[in-house]
Amino acid sequence: MQVTTICGSLRTNSFNRKLLKLATKVAENLDAQVEDLDLKKINLPLYDQDIEDAGIPANVLDFKKRVEQSDVLIIVSPEYNYSISGNLQNAIDWLSRGGNSLNNKTVAIMGVSAGPFGTVRGQNHLRQVLSALNVQILTQPQMLVRFAAQAFNEDGSFTDPKSQEVLEKLIKNTFELHNKLK
Ligand SMILES: Cc1cc2nc3c(=O)[nH]c(=O)nc-3n(C[C@H](O)[C@H](O)[C@H](O)COP(=O)(O)O)c2cc1C
Repeated sequence: MQVTTICGSLRTNSFNRKLLKLATKVAENLDAQVEDLDLKKINLPLYDQDIEDAGIPANVLDFKKRVEQSDVLIIVSPEYNYSISGNLQNAIDWLSRGGNSLNNKTVAIMGVSAGPFGTVRGQNHLRQVLSALNVQILTQPQMLVRFAAQAFNEDGSFTDPKSQEVLEKLIKNTFELHNKLK
């Protein structure tokens, strides 16, 4: 299983990246090969059709190719103003151009928020955006991590063991969905 991961937060000490680290470990324990597509390093331009018309830049083409080569994606995003981060939306917009790189992909979505709603509103938006691109996402379980400041131990593990159980179930079931659909 080839998995690529995308984190919608660029922040160095991002809680969402902490969640992504745990998700990566779970995927690797299920024998997946995991590659992180770090949006901060890739530094995609803001989508602009003038740029596309002049020729999609090399870093965008490489980003698209890596997504196309993967079986499953894990997308982790903070909730920004009840939606997904602008960086993630921009990345998805580029993935949708010059051929839909997300067509028929199986994706696990998850997120951490500072407050009590655990990115539920942002994840609902993410589901809607990805549905435009023919992406398969499980309806359950939902990985909603609330109260970020209390959610992780010093070693990066969850303070609530139930969160680890949900994460393992989400990733295992997403892999099974991919295997059923392929
Ligand atoms: C622009 C912006 C908008 C935000 N909007 C929301 C929001 O709508 N809901 C929410 O629960 N938290 C919101 N937050 C707080 C985030 O949950 C918090 O900053 C979180 O730590 C971001 O994730 P990160 O640690 O992975 O960067 C917002 C933060 C920013 C910077």
